[in-house]
Amino acid sequence: MKTQIQELRTQALADIESAGDAKAIDELNIRYLGRKGLVNDLMKGMAKVPADEKPLIGRLANELKNDLQDAFAKAVEKFGSGKEAGDVVDVTLPGRPRKVGGLHPLTTINLEICDIFTRLGFDIAQGPEVELDYYNFEALNFPKDHPARDMQDTFFVSDNVVLRTHTSPMQVRTMEKQKPPVRVIAPGKVYRCDSDITHTPMFAQVEGLVVDKGISFADLKGVLTTLVHQIFDDKTPLRFRPSFFPFTEPSAEVDIGCVMCKGSGCRVCSHTGWLEILGSGMVHPRVFEFVGYDTSEISGFAFGMGVERIAMLKYGIDDIRKYYENDVRFLNQF
Ligand code: DAH
Repeated sequence: MKTQIQELRTQALADIESAGDAKAIDELNIRYLGRKGLVNDLMKGMAKVPADEKPLIGRLANELKNDLQDAFAKAVEKFGSGKEAGDVVDVTLPGRPRKVGGLHPLTTINLEICDIFTRLGFDIAQGPEVELDYYNFEALNFPKDHPARDMQDTFFVSDNVVLRTHTSPMQVRTMEKQKPPVRVIAPGKVYRCDSDITHTPMFAQVEGLVVDKGISFADLKGVLTTLVHQIFDDKTPLRFRPSFFPFTEPSAEVDIGCVMCKGSGCRVCSHTGWLEILGSGMVHPRVFEFVGYDTSEISGFAFGMGVERIAMLKYGIDDIRKYYENDVRFLNQF
């Protein structure tokens, strides 16, 4: 028994000595000191040791166990434990901070726009993204085969069903449901078959519609000026540029003074000093006829803007696709 102990000691120490890494030490530890390990095996042999030798053998066996434990402790110090740091709880470490999510920049700007208009007394309406041709085009005075339909690269679901290409169908849907006065905005997603650094196949718009007795272009200018001054700053200049939309007459595109160069001309504004932000105009009498409004009594204005574009200008974002990549390094900045 004595020699057995001696041999085991020599073997174990040699093994520990030649182990090259933490994993090997772990394995040796289990092999020698584990519950079913060699040292425990040896201890079982104690039963057969004559009574007068027991104290000595017992002492030697315990010494072996202690010495091996020391040797393993030293080896662990040298190589590390081989276990993941997570296996050890260091109660003195500070707690892990819990990451708090935030609103997507498009949600923030959408809420801001809705907030501005609700304070101006507008209602908020929502409608279907899969839309009838009738609402998306026909009742907005885009007759079938009218070239203006080509301005919007439409996703067709069937002959007379499309993914709405703009939020303007909400003008018709709202007026069908209610009599004037109307003061409504309709935020929502729209779809066009288009994709590059300023276009994504899905994007967001906010439509606006005001109909009442005596509404004029001056009201349109007033509302849009308020909007721009609230979103950007109250020094931002606006200009109304004549344009064409089948559902407004007259029509205007609205530009703001370039937010990057403050009007002196830069790459972002193509050296014009101006940036286009929305389309607008006085509601075309044909549209009122479609919804049965009496054009001799009322008039109205409408506008529609792209939310991504406004947020890009406000936050200085140069690629629209960043909104949809869900890269937290981008999202964290807002
Ligand atoms: N729906 C148009 C577009 O997506 C934008 C627009 C222009 C909306 C004029 C309007 C408007 O309400 O009056 O290109």
